[in-house]
Amino acid sequence: MKTTPSSSLLPFAFVLLMSLHSIASADAHENFLQCLLQNSDNSTTSISKVIYTQNNSSYSSILDFTIQNRRFLTAATPKPQVIVKPLQVSHIQSVIFCSQLHGMQVRVRSGGHDYEGLSYISHVPYVVIDLINLRSISIDVEKTTAWIQAGATIGELYHKIADTSGTLGFPAGVCPSVGVGGHFSGGGYGILLRKYGLAADHVVDAHLIDVKGRLLDRKSMGEDLFWAIRGGGGASFGVIVAWKVELVTVPSTVTVCSSLRSLKQNLTQLVHRWQFVADKFDEDLITGVFLSSVNASTGGNRTVIASFESVFLGGVDGAIPLMQKSFPELGLVEKECTETSWVRAVLHHARFPIEAPLDVLLNRSPVTKRFYKAKSDYVREPMPEIAFEGIFELFNEKEGGNAEIMLVPYGGKMSEIPESSIPFPHRAGNIYKMSPVVYWYEEGSETAERHINWIRKLHSFLTPFVSKNPRASYINYRDIDIGANKIRGYTSYKQASIWGRKYFRNNFDRLVVKTMVDPHNFFRNEQSIPSLSSWRKQKDD
Ligand SMILES: Cc1cc2nc3c(=O)[nH]c(=O)nc-3n(C[C@H](O)[C@H](O)[C@H](O)COP(=O)(O)OP(=O)(O)OC[C@H]3O[C@@H](n4cnc5c(N)ncnc54)[C@H](O)[C@@H]3O)c2cc1C
Ligand SMILES: *[C@@H]1O[C@H](CO)[C@@H](O)[C@H](O)[C@H]1NC(C)=O
Ligand SMILES: *[C@@H]1O[C@H](CO)[C@@H](O)[C@H](O)[C@H]1NC(C)=O
Ligand SMILES: *[C@@H]1O[C@H](CO)[C@@H](O)[C@H](O)[C@H]1NC(C)=O
Ligand SMILES: *[C@@H]1O[C@H](CO)[C@@H](O)[C@H](O)[C@H]1NC(C)=O
Ligand SMILES: *[C@@H]1O[C@H](CO)[C@@H](O)[C@H](O)[C@H]1NC(C)=O
Ligand SMILES: *[C@@H]1O[C@H](CO)[C@@H](O)[C@H](O)[C@H]1NC(C)=O
Repeated sequence: MKTTPSSSLLPFAFVLLMSLHSIASADAHENFLQCLLQNSDNSTTSISKVIYTQNNSSYSSILDFTIQNRRFLTAATPKPQVIVKPLQVSHIQSVIFCSQLHGMQVRVRSGGHDYEGLSYISHVPYVVIDLINLRSISIDVEKTTAWIQAGATIGELYHKIADTSGTLGFPAGVCPSVGVGGHFSGGGYGILLRKYGLAADHVVDAHLIDVKGRLLDRKSMGEDLFWAIRGGGGASFGVIVAWKVELVTVPSTVTVCSSLRSLKQNLTQLVHRWQFVADKFDEDLITGVFLSSVNASTGGNRTVIASFESVFLGGVDGAIPLMQKSFPELGLVEKECTETSWVRAVLHHARFPIEAPLDVLLNRSPVTKRFYKAKSDYVREPMPEIAFEGIFELFNEKEGGNAEIMLVPYGGKMSEIPESSIPFPHRAGNIYKMSPVVYWYEEGSETAERHINWIRKLHSFLTPFVSKNPRASYINYRDIDIGANKIRGYTSYKQASIWGRKYFRNNFDRLVVKTMVDPHNFFRNEQSIPSLSSWRKQKDD
């Protein structure tokens, strides 16, 4: 690893600068650039090689490269004054130092998958720290641990694990281009969720650069901050440079089954029934449901289809009897199943052909970029059939034509981990997570508005059927609709708790560790934990 923790400061005094918060001006970023050049550590790569402004011809391609959502790939999308692509820790330290001196906000981007673009969009002058070049991964097979730099993707991690061992795995997400920087700091789940819980449950150490520019590890940051960054969102607390995780064991053979069912095959009753059993399956078995609207094969009408996607940690001869016992109504048959490896089961879930070369895991930028808006809910009591019928009616509206709803069963390990173990609070008592997404392909604000309104309507429709007080959401499925901090000025803890309790329930209160580690609320965004003392400071000013 290039990053070794030490508590030593940069060769200049950070502490003094904390109070010299200058007002951003038109040339703030010119001064900021001068500061970067003057203060950077010249012993290795000069920082000038990793700084991009709108004058550099590669600025746009660098900015756009990992933007996932076409909603934020428009001329009207706010753009950073500067992008820095650090090659070493000191580059990040320089950015943190100089941004405070010159009133620039910092946004940190690892994989760029934030649903609302918070890792690369701000409405005040800002710099993006793009960690794409800090992405080395080293695996210790004997100890079954790995150090992973924050700019790595989960696809790169899976590729490396599969290269190293046929029986090690990691319980993170499915889409290979997701970055570990954002993903692990918000939870991170995938096909191993019921067996092993979340990615964040397996983080055992981390390297983080705080507001003072110190590079801290678990020991030097302390247990409260280490707790906070495993599910509380990294962006409130500093810049995470690397994670150390505990890998998990997986069998060399796993079975994936895809069972497509249409309305004519009792889809509504099947999905309804699924709610009563899916969280109680053996923890080696997970069956998620993808509901979507498709064109009917005849008559030109639309219809709904459900794909029951199962993964069993073992061979097909284990999968079928277990499924027949736990969910006979599905009528799973062997020809719907394929035996493969854990890593190929992930590929399959990411909608690649199961035999695709494993190098597709290394692709960081999606081939086709879509416009989308997504939301999340937790379901604690089975929904009645009429709820599904209502959803299907909404699917048949024009804007619902390219919508999908994913139902992810909990239970198993998720119910065994206490709610306060890490900030991610959605554990026992949740049957499943439900996440709708609506896609569209046409430019224009009117089209966007129609589709966003459609998913908001769906969200209102679901109100009686999902978790209440608070209506829970998953921070990694970022949704600004549930509440946001003020763009300028002070947001109180009470105001922030409107969105904060939805993401963190009562764990929100313990995230006040923010006040201790970033008292002036330098690391902030529309959904960052507020610092209590930033209020005191503003009052005193
Ligand atoms: C196509 C797609 C598929 C997905 N699939 C899954 C899935 O299967 N399972 C799942 O759990 N989630 C999934 N997600 C959601 C995903 O986990 C979140 O979007 C996650 O936050 C992405 O991390 P990132 O590094 O790519 O994002 P970024 O946009 O880079 O960052 C997200 C947030 O984290 C902050 N951040 C990023 N890196 C750092 C860092 N190093 N230090 C401090 N703060 C940081 C950013 O500032 C931002 O606030 C998916 C998202 C997409 C778009
Ligand atoms: C690094 O080099 C730049 C340009 O040559 C210089 O201005 C700056 O003072 C140097 N930084 C340090 C910390 O010596
Ligand atoms: C971007 O342009 C500036 C001058 O405009 C230059 O100093 C810098 O090195 C360029 N960045 C890169 C990465 O080439
Ligand atoms: C960018 O280019 C403009 C016009 O050429 C110039 O005035 C400005 O100083 C440049 N900015 C940087 C940061 O190099
Ligand atoms: C649908 O359900 C009905 C009654 O519950 C049952 O009689 C019928 O066989 C089912 N059809 C299919 C295709 O499973
Ligand atoms: C479904 O039908 C509509 C209207 O006929 C068409 O525009 C659309 O492309 C079709 N979608 C798919 C996925 O075939
Ligand atoms: C298509 O939908 C229309 C209106 O709901 C209905 O009258 C027609 O029978 C449907 N066609 C088919 C083939 O289902």
